[in-house]
Amino acid sequence: MRQLEYWNEHAGESWAENADALESINAASGADAMRRARARPGEVVLDVGCGTGATTLALGRAVAPGGRVTGVDLSAPMIREARRAQAELDVPGIEFLEADVELARFEPASVDVVFSRMCLMLLDNPAAGLGALRRALRPGGRLLATAFRDIAENPWLPLAVIGAAPFIGALPPLPLPGEPGPFTFADPDVPRALLQTAGFVDIEIVAVDTAVTPSGSPEDVAALLIQLGPAGGPYRRATPDRRARARQAVAALLGRFVDDAGRVTLPNATWTISARRPDSCQHEGTR
Ligand SMILES: C[S@@+](CC[C@H](N)C(=O)[O-])C[C@H]1O[C@@H](n2cnc3c(N)ncnc32)[C@H](O)[C@@H]1O
Repeated sequence: MRQLEYWNEHAGESWAENADALESINAASGADAMRRARARPGEVVLDVGCGTGATTLALGRAVAPGGRVTGVDLSAPMIREARRAQAELDVPGIEFLEADVELARFEPASVDVVFSRMCLMLLDNPAAGLGALRRALRPGGRLLATAFRDIAENPWLPLAVIGAAPFIGALPPLPLPGEPGPFTFADPDVPRALLQTAGFVDIEIVAVDTAVTPSGSPEDVAALLIQLGPAGGPYRRATPDRRARARQAVAALLGRFVDDAGRVTLPNATWTISARRPDSCQHEGTR
C-alpha cells in the first residue's frame, strides 16, 4: 500500500524530526475546521491521520475534563513523535493508535466528532473509509476535515519537488491519475459525492484562504517545504553539499513569495468539509 510506505519510509521521519516547524505551515489549514468542530468537554473525538499529534492535543484540551481523543495514523515515526509530545505536555484523555484507518475496527456509534486535517483525500478507498467513519460516529455526530483545493491555487506546493529533484536521489513515485494524493479532493464534488454515498448528511464544503508565514529565511523555508513532501526522504539521505544546492534551488523558486524584508508568505487554499451522521440510524438504510 503506497501510503503506508510513503509515510513510513519517505516522509514520516522528516515530519517527526521537524514537527514544530512543520506545524507552523500546517496549522493554518486546520484552524477553521478546528473552530467549526466545536469540541466540548466530555466529548469523544477521533483524529484521523493525526500525524505528529498537534491537532489531537488541541482537541484533547477542548474536550477536557472528561473527554477522550484517539489520534490514528499509519506512520510509525509520526506516532512515535506524537506520543513523545503527549508525554511532555501530559494532556489528559489522549491515546495514539498506529493503524490504517481503513482497516481499524472502531466501536460503532462511539464517537462525537471525527476530525481530520489533510488526510481523507489520501485514503485508498475513500468511500469505504468514510463509511467506516460514519458508523463510528454516534447518530448526529459530526465530521470536520480539510483538504487542498486546486494545485493552481497552491502554487508553492510543487516547487519543493521541482527545485530539489535535480540534486537528490530518486523520489518516491508521484500519484498516478485515480490514485490518492494531495489534490484528490480539489474538485469539491468529489468529497461531496463520497460523503453522500457513505451516508453523511448536512454536507458543507467551504473555501478557506490563509496566508502561511513560516519563520526563517527563504532557504530555511525551502528546507521545511522539501521535508514536507516526497523529496523529504531523499533530501535527508543526500550529502550536505547536495542538500544545500537543493535548498538554494527551492529558495530561488520561492522568490515570488518573498517580500522586501525577506519574509516568505505562501497562499494556502483549502476546503473545510463538514458533515453529520443522521440523527437516527433508521434513516441510514443498509450502508
Ligand atoms: C498530510 S499528512 C497530515 C498529518 C496531520 N493531520 C497534520 O495535519 O499535520 C497526512 C497524514 O495522514 C496519514 N495517513 C494517510 N493515509 C492514512 C490511513 N489510511 N490511515 C491512517 N493514517 C493515514 C499519514 O501517515 C500522514 O500522517
